[in-house]
Amino acid sequence: MITVENLTKTFTQSNTSVAALDDVSLEVPDGSVCGVVGTSGAGKSTLARCIALLEKPDTGAIRVDGTDLVSLEGSKLRAARRRIGVVPQGDSLLRQRTAAGNVALPLESAKVPAAQRRSRVAELLDLVGLSDKASVYPDHLSGGQRQRVAVARALAAKPSVLLADEPTSALDPATTDSVLTVLERARSELGVTVLVVTHDMAVVRRIADDVAVLEQGRVVEHGKVLDLVSEPGSRIGSTLLPETDQASVLRPDSGQQHDVVAEVVLVGFAAVGALLPEASSRFGVELSILGGGLTRLGDTPVAKFRVGLSGERSESALKWMIERDAHVRRAPVSVDGVAA
Ligand SMILES: Nc1ncnc2c1ncn2[C@@H]1O[C@H](COP(=O)(O)OP(=O)(O)OP(=O)(O)O)[C@@H](O)[C@H]1O
Ligand SMILES: [Mg+2]
Repeated sequence: MITVENLTKTFTQSNTSVAALDDVSLEVPDGSVCGVVGTSGAGKSTLARCIALLEKPDTGAIRVDGTDLVSLEGSKLRAARRRIGVVPQGDSLLRQRTAAGNVALPLESAKVPAAQRRSRVAELLDLVGLSDKASVYPDHLSGGQRQRVAVARALAAKPSVLLADEPTSALDPATTDSVLTVLERARSELGVTVLVVTHDMAVVRRIADDVAVLEQGRVVEHGKVLDLVSEPGSRIGSTLLPETDQASVLRPDSGQQHDVVAEVVLVGFAAVGALLPEASSRFGVELSILGGGLTRLGDTPVAKFRVGLSGERSESALKWMIERDAHVRRAPVSVDGVAA
């Protein structure tokens, strides 16, 4: 578990101060992938650099497995740093070293014997799917391949935590996928806790269990992605889920009256597949989809629909859905049955 407690970091340059981190607290459970998102300048890299112990915060604590790393110095600090693998923002490979040579770097610094080093490098290149590129120089690798080498290098010293700062920036969707697969594999095969800084919501959608939204150095939203998406007013929810009013212009029953109009968020195969038709037949209500749609977060299907219910037992049908973990927000209904 990584616990960040009340972290602050202010940079002062030519008499102006920037609060890059302003009382930031968050928790990243062991073996999970946490996405840190936010606009440019929000403080994402500063947070990642503080957690990686490359930057010292002004105040606050960073605990990895219970130990506060901020107060460490000397050999203890160096040992703690080794437990944290870093994929820095931008292209970070050494040009004059091959892929294998880059991955070997941290092992050389840690004075791992040559034979052991070679087998570890081979293992890591296999993990990132680049065994055939071992002797290729960075200039002859694609952007995605370079990032995968950087991930392999970050994993070389068997860290318990992996920090990746914008690992997919400037990559096309297919290449992004290959890099995310590698991060996901680090978590699932090596049990590493992954913190991935990104402005790309596709990254959160694909691999994040948790997400923290930073804005001007403050955490404005933090939690499990699947919990946040069903919270009313969640920015993550409104970014990751389908718009409910987008499809409403095309709704087939335009002009029809509804007794109740509601927004419903359904999480998981069972809920997405069966809850609405079952509620409709069980309570004898007519249920129309007025907008919204389906998406997938990680492996979980999630739906957000605006639904119109007609029939005496509409309220009971909604209550029944809520009891089955549907997240329902009633919309006020105007005279013509369309949500105001
Ligand atoms: N070494 C530094 N010296 C002075 N100011 C800094 C330094 N590092 C960061 N800052 C400032 O702190 C704020 C946060 O920067 P940071 O790099 O953490 O943002 P970011 O969210 O990673 O942005 P981006 O998405 O552009 O990478 C910015 O206003 C930046 O200008
Ligand atoms: Mg950054």
